[in-house]
Amino acid sequence: RQNMYKCKVVLLGEQSVGKSSLVLRFVKRTFMEHHAPTIGAAFLTKHISLDNYRIKFEIWDTAGQERFHSLAPMYYRGAQAAIVVYDITKPDSFSRAIAWVKELYLQASSEIVILLAGNKVDLADGRMVPFKDASAFAKDRNLLFMETSAKTEKNVEEMFYEIAKRCPRQ
Ligand code: GTP
Ligand code: MG
Repeated sequence: RQNMYKCKVVLLGEQSVGKSSLVLRFVKRTFMEHHAPTIGAAFLTKHISLDNYRIKFEIWDTAGQERFHSLAPMYYRGAQAAIVVYDITKPDSFSRAIAWVKELYLQASSEIVILLAGNKVDLADGRMVPFKDASAFAKDRNLLFMETSAKTEKNVEEMFYEIAKRCPRQ
């Protein structure tokens, strides 16, 4: 029988940055040009294999609208990993991501793995957040960092595998 472990992941970030789209891409391998805003949160699971392990991802996709902010601790408290998403074409979403990282350092488990994801990298012509600014911030805060696209699939699987490698094998 294969060894198995669970990895509880929460996605956080401003509205419309593409949290649900990243999860949909990873879990169902699809993309929607007009995805509806999430209300409250959505829960999805997916199994992957890594080394000799079978990993069950339990994914909480939270709502970015500010009126749902107070619900977030319910989802990140028990999480082993957090994906903090911003949109590379929206500087405000990067500021919001920085605020999420601060909140996680103050409120979440000290063991939590945090991955900063600069999404919508397919919209390179509209880029407003330089790669080097985000990567410097990530390095300074000990975060994993990737630029992703839910639309083209860039770095979506890679992101979840990087997390899986670091999830405790309990
Ligand atoms: P909330 O649930 O409101 O917090 O938003 P969200 O972060 O879940 O965003 P969602 O996944 O609903 O995506 C918002 C819009 O951005 C949708 O119209 C998506 O099609 C689009 N989108 C998401 N990811 C990408 C991407 O990588 N590239 C492009 N071009 N568009 C994207
Ligand atoms: Mg959503």
